[in-house]
Amino acid sequence: MAYTRSSDANEITARYMDSILIEQRLIDSVKADIETEIFGEKFSMPVLTPAFSHLKEFNGRKKTGLEEYSIAAKETNILNFVGMMENEQFSKIIATGAKTIRIVKPYADHGKVRDQMQFAEEAGAFGIGMDIDHIFGVTGYDIVIGEEMTYQTSEMLRSYVESTDLPFVVKGVLSVEDAMKCADIGAKGIIVSHHHGRLPYAMPPLMILPKIREALSGKDIKIFVDCGIESGADVYKALALGADAAAVGRSMLPSLEKDGVSGVNKFLTDIGNELRFIMSATGFEDVSKIDASALHFT
Ligand SMILES: Cc1cc2nc3c(=O)[nH]c(=O)nc-3n(C[C@H](O)[C@H](O)[C@H](O)COP(=O)(O)O)c2cc1C
Repeated sequence: MAYTRSSDANEITARYMDSILIEQRLIDSVKADIETEIFGEKFSMPVLTPAFSHLKEFNGRKKTGLEEYSIAAKETNILNFVGMMENEQFSKIIATGAKTIRIVKPYADHGKVRDQMQFAEEAGAFGIGMDIDHIFGVTGYDIVIGEEMTYQTSEMLRSYVESTDLPFVVKGVLSVEDAMKCADIGAKGIIVSHHHGRLPYAMPPLMILPKIREALSGKDIKIFVDCGIESGADVYKALALGADAAAVGRSMLPSLEKDGVSGVNKFLTDIGNELRFIMSATGFEDVSKIDASALHFT
């Protein structure tokens, strides 16, 4: 499309996130605890790695970027995600020891979807899921690296949920309607995301989060978010607006490319430290209790 204005959801999202300001409440402040429980496991913080694919070996190192960030997830004890890959690559991710949720692509070949899910379960994945945001491309079915994708119906998603004992996470939710459908089909988690701006003018995930949180209130489903998260302040805003945890994505890449596992460990630790600091500076002791009362929308 020949837009004369920016329809880029990445830019719109960044502007929205930066327009949210934080007041400070210092008197009687406490040291905050950022430990987080997800699907019955304790993690060091409410920060997730992204569902990424196709990262090569950086700077001549032996392991791929996907393995390196998975090792960092294991070492920092955060929940790990990976995206599109073949089973052989997924085995290498499992070998890192990271608790990993495998986001399987919505392949038009349903046999491939089922094979990858079953493989993940047998290999010891912590959870499985699907990114639903490859529906029809602008000229027909969406093709990702030569493979045809397809849209999902509620019944298809329900059958995936019912085919596994693992928690199932739907990635690519950006409306109350889809969030409710995910809860109805028995998903245990959603990732509120516009998948780095596939949809022109896609709304910022943090803008729709409060409505999704309200609609899912009382339901047994975790709400994760991604897109443009790059600091402890961003994670804080996401939690305040209704997320249980937030995934860093492209913001992690420079640290990953340059310094591999140690670079990602430092990047994640810095995010956790900033989150803890902002929680203490706004009067929240525990990540599950953060609300939006300290946020101001400019
Ligand atoms: C290199 C790369 C590979 C990605 N691969 C996948 C994938 O296989 N599956 C998926 O669901 N999302 C994939 N994504 C999307 C990310 O998971 C995430 O939704 C998106 O990058 C937005 O987050 P960010 O702004 O923090 O990068 C990929 C993104 C990048 C940059």
